[in-house]
Amino acid sequence: MNLTLKIWRQKNASDKGKMVDYKVTDISEHMSFLEMMDVLNEQLINKGEEPVAFDHDCREGICGMCSMYINGEAHGPDRGVTTCQLHMRMFNDRDTIYIEPFRAAAFPVIKDLVVDRSSFERIQQAGGFISVNTSGNTQDANSIPIAKDAADEAMDAATCIGCGACVATCKNSSAMLFVGAKVSQYALLPQGQVEAADRVLNMVKQMDEEGFGNCTNTGACEIECPKGISLENIARMNREYMKASMKG
Ligand code: SF4
Ligand code: FES
Repeated sequence: MNLTLKIWRQKNASDKGKMVDYKVTDISEHMSFLEMMDVLNEQLINKGEEPVAFDHDCREGICGMCSMYINGEAHGPDRGVTTCQLHMRMFNDRDTIYIEPFRAAAFPVIKDLVVDRSSFERIQQAGGFISVNTSGNTQDANSIPIAKDAADEAMDAATCIGCGACVATCKNSSAMLFVGAKVSQYALLPQGQVEAADRVLNMVKQMDEEGFGNCTNTGACEIECPKGISLENIARMNREYMKASMKG
């Protein structure tokens, strides 16, 4: 395949940034999207030009780093995959592909396609954990019975990889799907009950302080989420928040 790429280039956080056109040739349909980007960068390095900065780590849909907005969709045109799992067979010869960073006020661009998602980390630090006594008398995990349905739902919520596609997709830049998943994964389990009220209040407070917008139930986040995180998690977070607020 021969392709035209229109890529967002931005030197640093304060640079205005602009779309720049590139051509890549002989791209195999079996390549991943990031391998295609590697080909482009090799080409740029050989010409003495600055390669395009983009985030990646695992390249297998686990780390949530590869935050690219491709042809107007977070993680591109395929469903249930991250950018690193996207294959070039989703595109056609002579296509023009638009590649931009995830855009949200709470995800400022660092360089080119790399954004700062430390706001997600601060939300996690505000309550996305359970405190376990590790002084030698820790209870065996298997000694607490958990209903299969609850374990399955908690596991589904825990598959959120913190990629930020939900935020980038939402017209309000809301982080409710991410925070809903992180609250739910503990709210569904007995181990999460002790700190449940503080968790939801603190995580939502941090989410608001980071500048994420409100949820208006459009559901775009659920569609673009590579892990299929359900909107039910937002509803559960709202219920948890209500319960915690009434406790006072
Ligand atoms: S909810 Fe989905 S889209 Fe949002 S951060 Fe988690 S995995 Fe990514
Ligand atoms: S590089 Fe890890 S999820 Fe894409």
